[in-house]
Amino acid sequence: MVSQSFSDLVLSWFKSNGRKNLPWQVEATSYKVWVSEIMLQQTQVVTVIPYFERFMKRFPDVHVLADATLDDVLHHWTGLGYYARARNLYKSAKIITSKYQGSLPLLFDEIITLPGIGRSTAGAILSLSHNKRFPILDGNVKRVLTRYHGIKGWPGKKKVENKLWEIAELHTPTKSIKQYTQAIMDLGATVCTRRNPDCDLCPLMLSCFAKEKNKQHDFPEKKPRAAIPERDTIFAILENDCGEILLEQRPLNGIWGGLWCFPEFSDDSKIKSIIQKKYGFNIKQKKEYRPIKHTFTHFHLMIKPVHIKLEKDKDYDSKVLKWIHPEINQSLGLPAPVLSMLVDLNNTKRAILNEP
Ligand code: ADE
Repeated sequence: MVSQSFSDLVLSWFKSNGRKNLPWQVEATSYKVWVSEIMLQQTQVVTVIPYFERFMKRFPDVHVLADATLDDVLHHWTGLGYYARARNLYKSAKIITSKYQGSLPLLFDEIITLPGIGRSTAGAILSLSHNKRFPILDGNVKRVLTRYHGIKGWPGKKKVENKLWEIAELHTPTKSIKQYTQAIMDLGATVCTRRNPDCDLCPLMLSCFAKEKNKQHDFPEKKPRAAIPERDTIFAILENDCGEILLEQRPLNGIWGGLWCFPEFSDDSKIKSIIQKKYGFNIKQKKEYRPIKHTFTHFHLMIKPVHIKLEKDKDYDSKVLKWIHPEINQSLGLPAPVLSMLVDLNNTKRAILNEP
């Protein structure tokens, strides 16, 4: 049977080539598998490992996670991106402790109702942690299957995706599910890579459509898309007389929801009056820095940083406003460009202090 030989080949490749000592595989629990699968959505293993380790130290089980603050969870996600994953993980932890006595549900129909868990993640968690027979279909697996079968069309299209699910289901063996799930993901991530597939090392080489036709780069087809639009914004680094910087917590819905950011402005000419009206501060000095480009899935954000020194002594924090020292490692969730702007600011200050 075709499907049997596919999984046999993948499984025997896995014996000597698969990843078996990733941090979430060592003394695996469904909690570890769940957290790692959420982190691994859209993010590579090497990037995830240090985040996963820090996360497990701080939130060793679902109860600790559910009892933490969202701020603390977002702080441990700072730099990993796609922050909706962290908010959903936190929401799910609360559901798991209140509705499922602290154990991740083991029924597919239940686990898939948790925020942030779609069909593939549900399949990955159930197969990796409980050896249950469910197919998975993440980006890596889509690449392997479209190349192997020569599946045309963009996999984000419902019709193409449905076909891939059918194929994924057919290839999923009845035994060694856990190993097969890890194997097919590893094969996509390490051999059947997007740019430089190493076909000579692939266990499926002899029956792969794309390899035979030398058309590996035609699969999977790309999303037909218009150019990503660009949006402009201004981030104001407001500094008081004590060298503290003002951060503002963003509303929960919208980009970087719940993270701490510099006050944002759309119109340079109105910054002064808004700062006076909204915060009651006067401006002493204003300096512009080079723009920073930050790319989201659907648009590029062109950030113009302006550094504004205020006639302002120490001030009080409020629930959504904090004065922070840029050189102190904050326990706050920060978007990547905010973190790098704080690091730059810090380095500039140090350089000025070290000047003869
Ligand atoms: N991508 C998603 N889940 C993964 C896992 N468990 N191992 C490696 N890569 C993955």
